[in-house]
Amino acid sequence: MIEVDVALGDRSYRVLVGAGARHRLLEVLPVGARRAAVVTQPGIDLSVDPGVEHRVFTMPGGEEAKHLGTVEDLCRDFATWGLTRADVVVAVGGGVVTDTAGFAAAVYHRGVPVVHVPTTLLGQVDAAIGGKTGVNLPEGKNLVGAFWQPEAVLCDIEALATLPPREYRSGLGEMAKYAFLGVDHLPDLPLDEAVAACVRCKADVVAADEREGGGRAVLNYGHTLAHALETAGGYDLRHGEAVAIGLVYAAELAHRLGRIDADRVGEHRRVLAGYDLPMRVPGGLDGDQIVDLVARDKKAVDGVTFVLDGPRGPEAVRVDDRALLLGTLEALR
Ligand code: GLY
Repeated sequence: MIEVDVALGDRSYRVLVGAGARHRLLEVLPVGARRAAVVTQPGIDLSVDPGVEHRVFTMPGGEEAKHLGTVEDLCRDFATWGLTRADVVVAVGGGVVTDTAGFAAAVYHRGVPVVHVPTTLLGQVDAAIGGKTGVNLPEGKNLVGAFWQPEAVLCDIEALATLPPREYRSGLGEMAKYAFLGVDHLPDLPLDEAVAACVRCKADVVAADEREGGGRAVLNYGHTLAHALETAGGYDLRHGEAVAIGLVYAAELAHRLGRIDADRVGEHRRVLAGYDLPMRVPGGLDGDQIVDLVARDKKAVDGVTFVLDGPRGPEAVRVDDRALLLGTLEALR
């Protein structure tokens, strides 16, 4: 089992990565927890045994379930069962489950401990690590949430064996991001080591900037265009696939701005191609509309902010040249 520490002072925790990590649940429960509310979704075929009295709460399926109504339902179920702040929530599932159950844990009784058991590659390398929890509003994704660090995260590699191929590939899109945030030889590593390397990278970034005052923004590499493509909808794009297109877009943009050379753009393409990820902006939607959506992204604090590669590695850069944004987009059709 590989252990990675997320160093956050008295909120520090361990991430265990490896086959069978879920069996370490009892060991990572908070001291004194008498009950565990296990939150999951239909179709998640991973059973956990918290080793204390527990009850399974199954929230509805799909990304559509990630809304405030589900948080209310979970909190009411916890209250009916008698869950207290001395107990624990265990989230077993993909990012929808860990984000929603994590937020319910953050607000129920003003905060109960949560342990995440992410069952998707995307969850293991990103969503379950770092304490971002939250739900969507009709007005946009992840608009309501809280920073609520888990007690521990158990990344059980066995859970990935049964993922549908497209779901797995979507996780590879998020994994590919880390190849440009300083994780070397990622495609050559065995799966557990690759997941652990991504977790270690994210843990370091989060430890340095827990609440995204600055440096944590690099974790959004590739995400600015990705969010716009996902919001535009109608493309049947998974998150990680949209991130892959966003990564190649960000690389092309950085090249056009003179921040990186053609070889580095080629490196982006090679990593993404190695994971069989898409690299073209889907036709159909007007480029102006995509750029408008990019400008509305909630992470755009001032103007259009992209994470762009450069001599110091990826960093947040403001880009005001609309013609450049559009031209780069059209070049990737
Ligand atoms: N998924 C980006 C972050 O956790 O900051």
